[in-house]
Amino acid sequence: MQYPPHLRIIRVMCSGMVNPELVVHALTQGADGVIIMGCHLGECHYLEGNFKTDARFEGTRVVLENCGVDAERFETVWVSSAEAPKFAENVVRFSEKIRKMGPNPLRVQKVVNA
Ligand code: FES
Repeated sequence: MQYPPHLRIIRVMCSGMVNPELVVHALTQGADGVIIMGCHLGECHYLEGNFKTDARFEGTRVVLENCGVDAERFETVWVSSAEAPKFAENVVRFSEKIRKMGPNPLRVQKVVNA
């Protein structure tokens, strides 16, 4: 499967292991977007990790907006390890969405102030 090369994949054991603080930190430090991909709801190998991810999603978006980050720069998607085409499609779609949004203004602001 081909997908845009300008993303950094960080593998974790379960989407539920991604602390929302890491998402907020990445985006407030200038990352253009963060997408968490986890197993389909009900199919987590750790039983409820993705339900935790899902439950944290809206709260994380609120924190991002309060930090001056457009919450649209953060998404969660449920993709099983057997769905490579769906993985690639979502990476392409998210990359295109972020490209249209432009660079993270917080990163641009840092460069200007440096
Ligand atoms: S193992 Fe928990 S979301 Fe995949």
